[in-house]
Amino acid sequence: MIQSVRGTKDILPDDIHLWNFVEGVFKKISSSYGYSELRTPIFEKTEVFVRSIGEETDIVNKEMYSFLDRSNESITLRPEGTAPLVRAVIQNSLIQQSNLLRLWYYGPFFRYERPQKGRQRQFHQYGAECIGSEFPESDAEIISLACDILKGIGIKNFKVLINSLGNNDSRDKYREELIAYLSNHLSELSEDSRRRFEKNPLRVLDSKDEKDIEITNSAPSILDFLDKESIEHFEGVKKILTKLDIDFTIHPKLVRGLDYYNHTVFEFQSSELGAQDSIGGGGRYNQLFTEFGAKQTPAVGFAFGVERLIIILEKIIEKDKLVQKPDIFIVSGLNPDDDYYISLVKKLRNMNLKVITDLNRRSFKAQMKESNRVGAKFALLLGDDEKNSNNITLKRLEDGFQQTIAFDSIENFNFDNQ
Ligand code: HAM
Repeated sequence: MIQSVRGTKDILPDDIHLWNFVEGVFKKISSSYGYSELRTPIFEKTEVFVRSIGEETDIVNKEMYSFLDRSNESITLRPEGTAPLVRAVIQNSLIQQSNLLRLWYYGPFFRYERPQKGRQRQFHQYGAECIGSEFPESDAEIISLACDILKGIGIKNFKVLINSLGNNDSRDKYREELIAYLSNHLSELSEDSRRRFEKNPLRVLDSKDEKDIEITNSAPSILDFLDKESIEHFEGVKKILTKLDIDFTIHPKLVRGLDYYNHTVFEFQSSELGAQDSIGGGGRYNQLFTEFGAKQTPAVGFAFGVERLIIILEKIIEKDKLVQKPDIFIVSGLNPDDDYYISLVKKLRNMNLKVITDLNRRSFKAQMKESNRVGAKFALLLGDDEKNSNNITLKRLEDGFQQTIAFDSIENFNFDNQ
């Protein structure tokens, strides 16, 4: 038997209700904040990601699904959504049409990571990007949008961690200072962190290794290196978040795994998730447009990992509540090609009712049993008697109450209010 690729998952009919539910929340809340959906292809030229995410990041170094296509062009399955969205905004001149863009996206993404609970090789993200404002109110809007989506899904127990990487000057100064500090502890750092130290020292702050954590706990804090502009921006974000009643924790070691960030970075965490506790994250990326050769355009955004939202949702919701049960199961003794039977099914479906019929020519009794099994609201009983008198018999399965309705008056019958 051929199996699916490691790190990928089928989403089965039993679980799809959870997905449809969160997708509905994404659409509703994004739209209430004035965000429009933008869909990019699932693959891009590899350079779209290498330049923007950064050559020394884990994603670009070891997680991308890249391949040469038949014309020898290097193509990559998108590992994230921000770089493709920026590419699309520039290519389609969207920013010239409006000086502020509010956009969201949703779909599958691909990273060659070691699969575990909440971590897959094909996973889904919902993300939102606010493009064209350098002001702290846009950072706050993005964080507020994310919190409202979590609340819309019913997730109340989450933490918002925020930090500032400052502008380029502040970040460069801090980087030097951090390198100086870490050089004194190099031999004590984990192998992973020693490698990161060489290529991307800020990422050492992200290490999950206990000894590394102990060392970086005493490292200089980036917040002490912010210049006036960077402090003002960060203070502005914090002030608005406080006024919005968004509970946040300042986490000076939060650096995030993509190189394009400056100023505000943030992450949403849930203790329901275990090791992979990050539900989502994001930040400001004022330089990314210039990496693509476009004019400098300030922007801020975030993305959620949807599998992780689903893991939490499963714990807080009764799945059954999301399932739309059939309105009617037709229990028929007539032939499957009988005119009366066919016109009745057609009529009911035209009324936008969820109607299920038997396709296995089962006995009346077996069909009755099936109507209960699928949780239909009504069993519609149909035999020669009903056909000859132009009627149907409707049985409410909850309590067995039965009534007869004339075929011609079915349209006037209110199935919802019974
Ligand atoms: P990221 O932190 O790399 O950011 O990914 C965002 C979220 O996607 C993570 O917090 C996690 O929930 C989920 N995720 C990442 N990798 C996996 C995986 N292998 N399996 C399951 N879930 C995963 C970004 O991607 C940025 N583009 C976010 C952003 C938008 N920044 C600005 N705008």
